[in-house]
Amino acid sequence: MKFIKVETVLQMSSLASEIISAKINSKNTAVLGFATGSTPIKTYEILVDLYEQNLLDFSQVKTVNLDEYCSHTLPTKHSYRYFMDSNLFDKININKENTYLPNGKTSDIESECARYENLINSLGGIDLQILGIGNNGHIGFNEPSDRISSFVHHVNLCATTIEANARLFENPDQVPTTAITMGIGTIMRAREIVLLANKSKTDIINQALFGEVTPQLPASFLQLHPNVTVILSTQE
Ligand code: GLP
Repeated sequence: MKFIKVETVLQMSSLASEIISAKINSKNTAVLGFATGSTPIKTYEILVDLYEQNLLDFSQVKTVNLDEYCSHTLPTKHSYRYFMDSNLFDKININKENTYLPNGKTSDIESECARYENLINSLGGIDLQILGIGNNGHIGFNEPSDRISSFVHHVNLCATTIEANARLFENPDQVPTTAITMGIGTIMRAREIVLLANKSKTDIINQALFGEVTPQLPASFLQLHPNVTVILSTQE
């Protein structure tokens, strides 16, 4: 594992965008795994800048996102699909048909989980997965638990996760309480992983990288992956 500490969020994001760019430039059909949350937003901004300068071509790239809220009533602007479209996909030359997220509005969640896992496999797996980390050590929406999940699955979100995500909603009652997420197994099958975190996640990053590997701290499983880079910015 490579553990890189930088000072600023800009440095963290520049480094992440360099790794993503290098992947696309070495394999123009790369399958990229993307994450939502505030941490990767600057990275996506830099990718848009590089595209606008004709330095990146997304035309053959495919993307799979980690997770999506489950709710039939979720306002569009709070969906992770909307987040990805507005922060990245609508601003670059990617074919939107090649951008995938779980369907959180499905009435058959079990089938949707199986479909999404199979889809990732049918794309040939993930070349590079970008991750953030929750305050409780979750990756994707794999919450602390007694066991890890190998595949895409349906999760009940922890009260602390719902509370953390409520900051993005007008009304805390709107925050969905369940989601579909890649499993720890799905994430671990990515050929390369980059985890981004800023200062507020310093303690949980140290526990995850240097403590016990346990389903109670899902990000700790990254210790077992052969190609992980963690970039921590020491400022907010
Ligand atoms: C959500 C997402 C995670 C993300 C986490 C941290 O729970 N499902 O993928 O890593 O939030 O978000 P932030 O980067 O805003 O702290």
